[in-house]
Amino acid sequence: MVVGNDNAGSRAPRPGERERCLAHPDGASGVPAPSLTEHNERVRIRPADVTDAVAVFTLLDQATGGAAPRRSAFDHNYEQVIAAMTYDGTDFVVADRDGEVIGYALAARVLSLSANGPVSQLLELVVGAAHRGRGVGALLVDAIIRRARNAGAVEVTVAARGARGYFERRGFTETATCLTLPLL
Ligand SMILES: CC(C)(COP(=O)(O)OP(=O)(O)OC[C@H]1O[C@@H](n2cnc3c(N)ncnc32)[C@H](O)[C@@H]1OP(=O)(O)O)[C@@H](O)C(=O)NCCC(=O)NCCS
Repeated sequence: MVVGNDNAGSRAPRPGERERCLAHPDGASGVPAPSLTEHNERVRIRPADVTDAVAVFTLLDQATGGAAPRRSAFDHNYEQVIAAMTYDGTDFVVADRDGEVIGYALAARVLSLSANGPVSQLLELVVGAAHRGRGVGALLVDAIIRRARNAGAVEVTVAARGARGYFERRGFTETATCLTLPLL
């Protein structure tokens, strides 16, 4: 999960630190889609592919203030995620503006016994600093919600960390407190 917006939220949670988990009932967001600005009318949300790895790593590095994962680990896991898109409930999309990847979102749909159906967990959402505030993040979140709905998921959840207000404005409400136990 990518955290924060270039500040104190941009780090891995410490042991015992609480995250707020927000959920979005699957369906219409209830928030009007952002109007297409001159900037993002050229943005296309598409599935990520292997050629996007460097751009996605750069976005991740920027969003985590240089605390991105080791490049070797990233490369290995990137390949796994791309492969997983073909055989399980992994949704990995990028915002492509005229061939430049300026943002991405990664979500995993998992089966649940308690939620009346599968749940889509939004794990990472990043927009490049130079492209923020123009609705690109909203386009990515909407794409994840749409894919979740089309796959029969009943809700989308996110550990919002530093971006709680961002998700609440999009119809997410607090449902739980997430705790993390680092294993590394
Ligand atoms: C959060 C993020 C994805 C938003 O991307 P974006 O393209 O700028 O988002 P949008 O253009 O759709 O929305 C911008 C609005 O959200 C608000 N916003 C942005 N980050 C916010 C945050 N952390 N908390 C509350 N509101 C936030 C902006 O102030 C702006 O408000 P406005 O419409 O009133 O001007 C981007 O800031 C980012 O990549 N942050 C670093 C990573 C991160 O925190 N990811 C989310 C947790 S997984």
